[in-house]
Amino acid sequence: MSGICDGRVVVVTGAGRGLGRAHALAFAAEGARVVVNDLGVGLDGERGAESPAGAVVAEIRAAGGEAVAHGGDIATADGAASLVRTALETYGGLDTLVSNAGFLRDRMLVNLGEDDWDAVIRVHLKGHFLPLRHAAAYWRTEAKAGRIPQARVVHTSSGAGLLGSVGQGNYSAAKAGIVALTLVAAAELARYGVQVNAVAPAARTRMTARAFAQAMAAPATGFDAMAAENVSPLVVWLGSAASAGVTGRVFEAEGGRITVMEGWRPGPAADKGARWTPAEAGETARELLAAAEPPGAVYGA
Ligand SMILES: NC(=O)c1ccc[n+]([C@@H]2O[C@H](COP(=O)([O-])OP(=O)(O)OC[C@H]3O[C@@H](n4cnc5c(N)ncnc54)[C@H](O)[C@@H]3O)[C@@H](O)[C@H]2O)c1
Repeated sequence: MSGICDGRVVVVTGAGRGLGRAHALAFAAEGARVVVNDLGVGLDGERGAESPAGAVVAEIRAAGGEAVAHGGDIATADGAASLVRTALETYGGLDTLVSNAGFLRDRMLVNLGEDDWDAVIRVHLKGHFLPLRHAAAYWRTEAKAGRIPQARVVHTSSGAGLLGSVGQGNYSAAKAGIVALTLVAAAELARYGVQVNAVAPAARTRMTARAFAQAMAAPATGFDAMAAENVSPLVVWLGSAASAGVTGRVFEAEGGRITVMEGWRPGPAADKGARWTPAEAGETARELLAAAEPPGAVYGA
Protein backbone atom coordinates (compact mmCIF):
# COMPACT_ATOMS: atom_id res chain seq x y z
CA MET A 1 0.00 0.00 0.00
CA SER A 2 1.41 3.40 -0.86
CA GLY A 3 0.27 6.98 -0.99
CA ILE A 4 0.59 10.38 0.69
CA CYS A 5 1.55 8.84 4.06
CA ASP A 6 4.26 6.48 2.79
CA GLY A 7 6.61 5.57 5.62
CA ARG A 8 4.79 7.64 8.24
CA VAL A 9 3.95 6.22 11.66
CA VAL A 10 0.43 7.20 12.71
CA VAL A 11 -1.36 6.68 16.02
CA VAL A 12 -5.17 6.79 16.03
CA THR A 13 -7.01 6.66 19.37
CA GLY A 14 -10.43 5.03 19.62
CA ALA A 15 -9.74 3.33 16.29
CA GLY A 16 -11.58 0.10 16.98
CA ARG A 17 -14.89 1.44 15.70
CA GLY A 18 -16.64 4.27 13.90
CA LEU A 19 -14.61 7.25 12.74
CA GLY A 20 -11.33 6.10 14.29
CA ARG A 21 -11.51 2.75 12.48
CA ALA A 22 -12.20 4.54 9.18
CA HIS A 23 -9.22 6.87 9.80
CA ALA A 24 -6.88 3.96 10.64
CA LEU A 25 -7.84 2.05 7.47
CA ALA A 26 -7.51 5.22 5.35
CA PHE A 27 -4.04 6.02 6.74
CA ALA A 28 -2.90 2.44 6.11
CA ALA A 29 -4.25 2.61 2.55
CA GLU A 30 -2.04 5.69 2.03
CA GLY A 31 1.09 3.83 3.14
CA ALA A 32 1.18 4.64 6.88
CA ARG A 33 2.13 2.18 9.61
CA VAL A 34 -0.67 2.51 12.14
CA VAL A 35 -0.97 2.08 15.90
CA VAL A 36 -4.64 1.20 16.38
CA ASN A 37 -5.69 2.18 19.91
CA ASP A 38 -8.99 1.24 21.51
CA LEU A 39 -9.91 0.46 25.10
CA GLY A 40 -13.17 -1.17 24.03
CA VAL A 41 -15.85 0.64 26.01
CA GLY A 42 -19.61 0.89 25.73
CA LEU A 43 -21.45 3.92 24.43
CA ASP A 44 -21.38 5.48 27.91
CA GLY A 45 -17.75 4.56 28.66
CA GLU A 46 -18.41 1.35 30.61
CA ARG A 47 -15.62 -1.20 30.04
CA GLY A 48 -16.39 -3.85 27.43
CA ALA A 49 -15.15 -7.42 27.41
CA GLU A 50 -12.35 -6.82 24.92
CA SER A 51 -10.80 -4.17 22.69
CA PRO A 52 -11.92 -4.09 19.05
CA ALA A 53 -8.44 -2.79 18.05
CA GLY A 54 -7.17 -6.27 17.10
CA ALA A 55 -9.90 -6.74 14.50
CA VAL A 56 -8.95 -3.45 12.79
CA VAL A 57 -5.28 -4.44 12.81
CA ALA A 58 -6.29 -7.74 11.16
CA GLU A 59 -8.27 -5.83 8.50
CA ILE A 60 -5.28 -3.57 7.75
CA ARG A 61 -2.87 -6.52 7.53
CA ALA A 62 -5.29 -8.49 5.34
CA ALA A 63 -5.28 -5.56 2.91
CA GLY A 64 -1.45 -5.61 2.84
CA GLY A 65 -0.84 -2.81 5.34
CA GLU A 66 1.10 -2.54 8.60
CA ALA A 67 -0.55 -2.04 11.98
CA VAL A 68 -0.24 -2.88 15.65
CA ALA A 69 -2.90 -2.82 18.38
CA HIS A 70 -2.80 -0.86 21.63
CA GLY A 71 -5.59 -1.52 24.14
CA GLY A 72 -4.82 1.14 26.77
CA ASP A 73 -6.94 3.97 28.19
CA ILE A 74 -5.65 7.17 26.56
CA ALA A 75 -7.05 9.31 29.39
CA THR A 76 -4.50 7.86 31.84
CA ALA A 77 -0.82 8.83 32.06
CA ASP A 78 0.21 5.15 31.66
CA GLY A 79 -2.09 4.60 28.69
CA ALA A 80 -0.93 7.74 26.88
CA ALA A 81 2.76 7.03 27.58
CA SER A 82 2.52 3.41 26.43
CA LEU A 83 0.61 4.51 23.31
CA VAL A 84 3.53 6.68 22.17
CA ARG A 85 6.02 4.04 23.33
CA THR A 86 4.24 1.42 21.19
CA ALA A 87 4.83 3.56 18.09
CA LEU A 88 8.49 4.17 18.97
CA GLU A 89 9.27 0.56 19.92
CA THR A 90 7.35 -1.04 17.04
CA TYR A 91 8.15 1.34 14.20
CA GLY A 92 11.05 3.44 15.49
CA GLY A 93 9.26 6.80 15.39
CA LEU A 94 6.03 8.77 15.43
CA ASP A 95 4.86 11.21 12.76
CA THR A 96 1.14 11.72 13.33
CA LEU A 97 -1.20 11.58 16.31
CA VAL A 98 -4.95 11.46 15.67
CA SER A 99 -6.94 11.85 18.90
CA ASN A 100 -10.47 10.58 18.41
CA ALA A 101 -11.49 8.32 21.32
CA GLY A 102 -14.50 9.24 23.41
CA PHE A 103 -18.02 8.53 24.56
CA LEU A 104 -21.19 10.34 25.62
CA ARG A 105 -23.25 10.73 28.81
CA ASP A 106 -26.03 13.03 27.58
CA ARG A 107 -28.30 14.68 30.17
CA MET A 108 -30.02 18.04 30.53
CA LEU A 109 -27.93 20.24 32.84
CA VAL A 110 -30.28 19.96 35.82
CA ASN A 111 -29.97 16.15 35.67
CA LEU A 112 -26.27 15.99 34.81
CA GLY A 113 -24.48 14.14 37.61
CA GLU A 114 -20.95 14.95 38.70
CA ASP A 115 -19.81 11.48 37.53
CA ASP A 116 -21.22 12.08 34.06
CA TRP A 117 -19.50 15.47 33.94
CA ASP A 118 -16.15 14.07 35.07
CA ALA A 119 -16.21 10.99 32.82
CA VAL A 120 -16.93 12.93 29.62
CA ILE A 121 -14.51 15.79 30.36
CA ARG A 122 -11.89 13.19 31.25
CA VAL A 123 -12.12 10.98 28.17
CA HIS A 124 -12.29 13.83 25.63
CA LEU A 125 -10.27 16.70 27.13
CA LYS A 126 -7.71 14.78 29.19
CA GLY A 127 -7.79 12.06 26.52
CA HIS A 128 -6.56 14.68 24.03
CA PHE A 129 -4.07 16.37 26.38
CA LEU A 130 -2.15 13.32 27.61
CA PRO A 131 -1.29 11.70 24.23
CA LEU A 132 -0.45 15.18 22.89
CA ARG A 133 1.90 15.82 25.81
CA HIS A 134 3.76 12.52 25.36
CA ALA A 135 3.97 12.85 21.57
CA ALA A 136 5.11 16.48 21.84
CA ALA A 137 7.86 15.54 24.32
CA TYR A 138 9.21 13.04 21.76
CA TRP A 139 9.05 15.59 18.93
CA ARG A 140 10.77 18.24 21.04
CA THR A 141 13.62 15.81 21.76
CA GLU A 142 13.90 15.05 18.05
CA ALA A 143 13.93 18.76 17.14
CA LYS A 144 16.56 19.55 19.78
CA ALA A 145 18.72 16.76 18.36
CA GLY A 146 18.58 18.52 14.99
CA ARG A 147 16.01 16.16 13.45
CA ILE A 148 13.13 18.63 12.87
CA PRO A 149 10.05 16.43 12.34
CA GLN A 150 7.17 16.98 9.96
CA ALA A 151 4.85 16.03 12.77
CA ARG A 152 1.07 16.33 12.63
CA VAL A 153 -1.67 16.21 15.24
CA VAL A 154 -5.35 15.96 14.35
CA HIS A 155 -7.81 16.55 17.17
CA THR A 156 -11.50 15.67 17.18
CA SER A 157 -13.91 18.38 18.23
CA SER A 158 -17.62 18.53 17.37
CA GLY A 159 -20.29 20.94 16.25
CA ALA A 160 -21.42 20.63 19.88
CA GLY A 161 -18.16 22.25 20.96
CA LEU A 162 -18.39 25.01 18.35
CA LEU A 163 -22.05 26.01 18.70
CA GLY A 164 -23.29 24.15 21.81
CA SER A 165 -25.77 21.28 21.91
CA VAL A 166 -28.82 20.91 24.13
CA GLY A 167 -28.48 17.92 26.49
CA GLN A 168 -24.71 17.78 25.98
CA GLY A 169 -23.30 20.35 28.42
CA ASN A 170 -20.42 18.08 29.46
CA TYR A 171 -19.59 16.99 25.90
CA SER A 172 -19.92 20.52 24.44
CA ALA A 173 -17.59 21.93 27.12
CA ALA A 174 -15.02 19.18 26.49
CA LYS A 175 -15.16 19.63 22.71
CA ALA A 176 -14.84 23.44 23.02
CA GLY A 177 -11.85 22.86 25.29
CA ILE A 178 -10.28 20.68 22.61
CA VAL A 179 -10.46 23.60 20.16
CA ALA A 180 -8.66 25.90 22.63
CA LEU A 181 -6.08 23.16 23.30
CA THR A 182 -5.55 22.87 19.53
CA LEU A 183 -4.86 26.61 19.20
CA VAL A 184 -2.39 26.63 22.09
CA ALA A 185 -0.64 23.46 20.89
CA ALA A 186 -0.31 24.86 17.34
CA ALA A 187 1.31 28.02 18.73
CA GLU A 188 3.60 26.25 21.23
CA LEU A 189 4.75 23.35 19.07
CA ALA A 190 5.38 25.10 15.73
CA ARG A 191 9.04 25.57 16.68
CA TYR A 192 9.45 21.77 16.93
CA GLY A 193 7.98 21.10 13.48
CA VAL A 194 4.56 20.07 14.78
CA GLN A 195 1.27 21.16 13.17
CA VAL A 196 -1.96 20.82 15.16
CA ASN A 197 -5.46 21.05 13.67
CA ALA A 198 -8.95 19.90 14.65
CA VAL A 199 -11.89 18.39 12.80
CA ALA A 200 -15.54 18.52 13.79
CA PRO A 201 -16.94 15.44 12.02
CA ALA A 202 -20.46 14.25 11.38
CA ALA A 203 -21.06 10.63 10.44
CA ARG A 204 -23.22 7.67 11.25
CA THR A 205 -21.60 5.58 13.99
CA ARG A 206 -22.99 3.83 17.05
CA MET A 207 -22.56 7.20 18.85
CA THR A 208 -24.89 9.02 16.46
CA ALA A 209 -27.22 6.19 15.41
CA ARG A 210 -30.15 7.91 17.09
CA ALA A 211 -29.33 11.47 16.00
CA PHE A 212 -28.89 10.41 12.37
CA ALA A 213 -31.70 7.83 12.34
CA GLN A 214 -33.08 9.47 9.20
CA ALA A 215 -29.76 9.10 7.42
CA MET A 216 -29.54 5.41 8.40
CA ALA A 217 -31.75 4.59 5.44
CA ALA A 218 -30.01 3.09 2.42
CA PRO A 219 -28.69 5.88 0.18
CA ALA A 220 -30.70 6.47 -2.99
CA THR A 221 -27.84 8.03 -4.96
CA GLY A 222 -25.12 5.48 -4.21
CA PHE A 223 -23.16 8.06 -2.21
CA ASP A 224 -23.66 7.33 1.48
CA ALA A 225 -23.25 10.87 2.80
CA MET A 226 -23.20 9.76 6.45
CA ALA A 227 -20.49 7.11 6.10
CA ALA A 228 -17.58 7.56 8.53
CA GLU A 229 -15.20 6.96 5.61
CA ASN A 230 -16.16 10.37 4.16
CA VAL A 231 -14.44 12.20 7.04
CA SER A 232 -11.14 10.31 6.81
CA PRO A 233 -9.62 11.83 3.61
CA LEU A 234 -9.31 15.28 5.23
CA VAL A 235 -7.91 13.71 8.42
CA VAL A 236 -5.35 11.74 6.38
CA TRP A 237 -4.28 14.87 4.48
CA LEU A 238 -3.96 16.88 7.71
CA GLY A 239 -1.91 13.98 9.11
CA SER A 240 0.42 13.87 6.10
CA ALA A 241 3.46 15.96 5.18
CA ALA A 242 1.38 17.37 2.31
CA SER A 243 -0.52 19.68 4.72
CA ALA A 244 2.63 21.79 5.35
CA GLY A 245 1.77 25.30 6.53
CA VAL A 246 -1.71 24.43 7.84
CA THR A 247 -1.93 24.66 11.63
CA GLY A 248 -4.26 25.93 14.34
CA ARG A 249 -7.33 25.47 12.12
CA VAL A 250 -10.70 23.82 12.66
CA PHE A 251 -12.60 22.08 9.85
CA GLU A 252 -16.07 20.60 9.74
CA ALA A 253 -16.24 17.43 7.63
CA GLU A 254 -19.45 15.64 6.69
CA GLY A 255 -20.35 13.68 3.55
CA GLY A 256 -18.73 15.44 0.61
CA ARG A 257 -18.47 18.81 2.38
CA ILE A 258 -15.39 20.39 4.01
CA THR A 259 -15.89 23.69 5.86
CA VAL A 260 -13.24 25.91 7.43
CA MET A 261 -14.72 27.08 10.72
CA GLU A 262 -13.98 30.68 11.64
CA GLY A 263 -13.73 31.22 15.37
CA TRP A 264 -14.15 33.92 17.94
CA ARG A 265 -12.85 37.32 16.87
CA PRO A 266 -13.57 40.87 18.11
CA GLY A 267 -16.85 42.30 16.84
CA PRO A 268 -18.34 45.78 17.48
CA ALA A 269 -16.61 47.53 20.41
CA ALA A 270 -16.83 50.79 22.34
CA ASP A 271 -14.24 52.36 24.64
CA LYS A 272 -15.24 55.12 27.04
CA GLY A 273 -11.68 55.58 28.26
CA ALA A 274 -13.06 55.47 31.80
CA ARG A 275 -15.23 53.16 33.94
CA TRP A 276 -18.85 52.74 32.80
CA THR A 277 -21.79 52.83 35.17
CA PRO A 278 -23.86 49.59 34.99
CA ALA A 279 -26.68 51.44 33.22
CA GLU A 280 -24.27 52.94 30.65
CA ALA A 281 -22.56 49.57 30.18
CA GLY A 282 -25.95 47.97 29.52
CA GLU A 283 -27.02 50.65 27.04
CA THR A 284 -23.71 50.37 25.21
CA ALA A 285 -23.88 46.57 25.21
CA ARG A 286 -27.32 46.73 23.56
CA GLU A 287 -26.07 49.14 20.88
CA LEU A 288 -23.09 46.91 20.15
CA LEU A 289 -25.29 43.79 20.02
CA ALA A 290 -27.55 45.51 17.49
CA ALA A 291 -24.51 45.99 15.24
CA ALA A 292 -23.09 42.49 15.81
CA GLU A 293 -23.55 39.26 13.82
CA PRO A 294 -26.13 37.04 15.57
CA PRO A 295 -24.62 33.82 17.00
CA GLY A 296 -25.20 30.46 15.28
CA ALA A 297 -28.08 28.42 16.67
CA VAL A 298 -27.31 25.95 19.46
CA TYR A 299 -27.97 22.38 18.21
CA GLY A 300 -31.32 21.13 19.47
CA ALA A 301 -32.47 24.55 20.75
N1 LIG B 1 -20.10 10.38 14.82
C1 LIG B 1 -20.27 11.69 14.74
O1 LIG B 1 -21.11 12.21 13.98
C2 LIG B 1 -19.42 12.61 15.57
C3 LIG B 1 -19.74 13.98 15.58
C4 LIG B 1 -18.92 14.85 16.28
C5 LIG B 1 -17.81 14.35 16.96
N2 LIG B 1 -17.57 13.00 16.97
C6 LIG B 1 -16.40 12.54 17.72
O2 LIG B 1 -15.67 11.60 16.93
C7 LIG B 1 -14.99 10.68 17.78
C8 LIG B 1 -15.30 9.25 17.36
O3 LIG B 1 -16.69 9.01 17.57
P1 LIG B 1 -17.50 7.82 16.88
O4 LIG B 1 -18.76 8.39 16.44
O5 LIG B 1 -16.63 7.10 15.91
O6 LIG B 1 -17.81 6.90 18.18
P2 LIG B 1 -17.61 5.33 18.48
O7 LIG B 1 -18.28 5.08 19.77
O8 LIG B 1 -18.02 4.54 17.28
O9 LIG B 1 -16.03 5.17 18.62
C9 LIG B 1 -15.31 5.67 19.71
C10 LIG B 1 -14.27 4.65 20.13
O10 LIG B 1 -13.48 5.20 21.20
C11 LIG B 1 -13.16 4.15 22.10
N3 LIG B 1 -12.80 4.70 23.41
C12 LIG B 1 -13.63 5.33 24.29
N4 LIG B 1 -12.95 5.68 25.39
C13 LIG B 1 -11.66 5.31 25.21
C14 LIG B 1 -10.46 5.42 25.98
N5 LIG B 1 -10.49 5.99 27.20
N6 LIG B 1 -9.31 4.94 25.47
C15 LIG B 1 -9.27 4.35 24.24
N7 LIG B 1 -10.38 4.19 23.47
C16 LIG B 1 -11.56 4.66 23.94
C17 LIG B 1 -14.43 3.30 22.13
O11 LIG B 1 -14.17 1.97 22.61
C18 LIG B 1 -14.88 3.36 20.68
O12 LIG B 1 -14.43 2.24 19.93
C19 LIG B 1 -15.41 11.03 19.21
O13 LIG B 1 -14.45 11.89 19.79
C20 LIG B 1 -16.72 11.78 18.99
O14 LIG B 1 -17.03 12.63 20.05
C21 LIG B 1 -18.34 12.13 16.30
